[in-house]
Amino acid sequence: MFDSDAPLRGVRSSGERLTTTTVGHMDASELTTLLTPEALRLLRDLPPYENETDVLALVSRLRKDGHAPGLVATVLTQARLRKKAATKFGPFAQAMLFTQAGLEQATRLEVAAQHAGRFARAGCVHIADLGCGLGADSLALASLGLTVMAVERDEITAALAAYNLSAFPDVTVSHGEANGAHLDGIDGVFLDPARRTAGHSNTKRQMNPDDWSPSLTFALDTVRSVAAGGIKLGPGTDRELIPGDAEAQWVAVGDDVVEMGLWFGRAKREGIGRSALILTPTGHHELVAPGDAPDAPVGALARYIYEPNGAVIRAHLIGEVARRLGGHMIDESIAYVSTETPTLTPFARGFEVLETTAVDPKAISRALTTHDVGRVEIKKRGIDIDPATFRKKLTLTGFGDGVVILTRAGTKRLALIARRLDDRVEI
Ligand SMILES: C[S@@+](CC[C@H](N)C(=O)[O-])C[C@H]1O[C@@H](n2cnc3c(N)ncnc32)[C@H](O)[C@@H]1O
Repeated sequence: MFDSDAPLRGVRSSGERLTTTTVGHMDASELTTLLTPEALRLLRDLPPYENETDVLALVSRLRKDGHAPGLVATVLTQARLRKKAATKFGPFAQAMLFTQAGLEQATRLEVAAQHAGRFARAGCVHIADLGCGLGADSLALASLGLTVMAVERDEITAALAAYNLSAFPDVTVSHGEANGAHLDGIDGVFLDPARRTAGHSNTKRQMNPDDWSPSLTFALDTVRSVAAGGIKLGPGTDRELIPGDAEAQWVAVGDDVVEMGLWFGRAKREGIGRSALILTPTGHHELVAPGDAPDAPVGALARYIYEPNGAVIRAHLIGEVARRLGGHMIDESIAYVSTETPTLTPFARGFEVLETTAVDPKAISRALTTHDVGRVEIKKRGIDIDPATFRKKLTLTGFGDGVVILTRAGTKRLALIARRLDDRVEI
């Protein structure tokens, strides 16, 4: 068992022995080293982690100061992980402990806040986070004043979650199995099943939902047994797996589609079956529909072309975006929307088409020269071309920025010489 230290007071153990594990690349002795006052103090007092050269100097200094090599290595690993974690947790990362695998699987705090908001709006007070990992979702739930029962099967991860959640008196972290959790008095359940073999990084994604841990069947049965439930899955999850009683929401942070959440019971919104939520630095933007939205009609390429956000595409809400922009598709099977007038929208990236040519490197190079484009971004959709190989065939003589969109309308292959509409506008 753990040598008790303040951060670990919240961990309830199932009584199994703590054995060496490779999950998240931290073993029991590293954990024991990390959770000592000396290591935590050293970690707190380290200068900001910059680069590997600085680290070498730092290692020599810490060794000269008499710190043991194992302790120095453990503390510096945490410093490196904290720096990496800043993209997901912002300044909170500086007060958290991580494993590599746990960090990779952790929900970004801004997305976890969306999960937590669902439960709060559903009127829940006591949530179970079954398979809590390092505790990002529990942290967001607790930040909204909800009482949280967090359960984690990996003992080292559970210990780190307990540390990360130690500021919240209404959170308990238990080391144990999700299917052993008692749900009496729980009105909301959240699950974020591990979808990689044994929770390791650098391993294959499990395609069969029965191999996810906990399995999708268990997750569905559990969320349906309480008033409100949420299951976080990958954005590319097979649509066949979306049950009829769920709201499926695809979430993007900027252009990055990070998850598909399934929401049940009171956490599902009335009349909404599909939604796409886009989080940008300036706000949250959402499209909703009772189900897949009907596609927009197909028409000729006009002056502007829009590439819908991946969350919109995955949620099958392109038709909805086209209607908002007053546009049409240029091919029924290709996710581009075209319009006569420009409109800035958070749901799609817009481009002004300067010229249309054949999909021919010479013709495209000539057009790029005409428009003084020297730095080019190549996009393609509905056409079998490798942009990296295609780029090598272009002769670039201009100085400005531009975009080449390789696509087709029906059987006609098109190269659109374009420039971004929102280059200077943060949406
Ligand atoms: C994707 S991670 C959760 C990440 C978490 N939502 C976060 O943001 O930090 C899934 C976690 O579930 C744990 N897990 C897998 N199967 C479990 C089970 N049967 N019972 C409890 N925990 C389990 C894994 O060890 C892993 O830490």
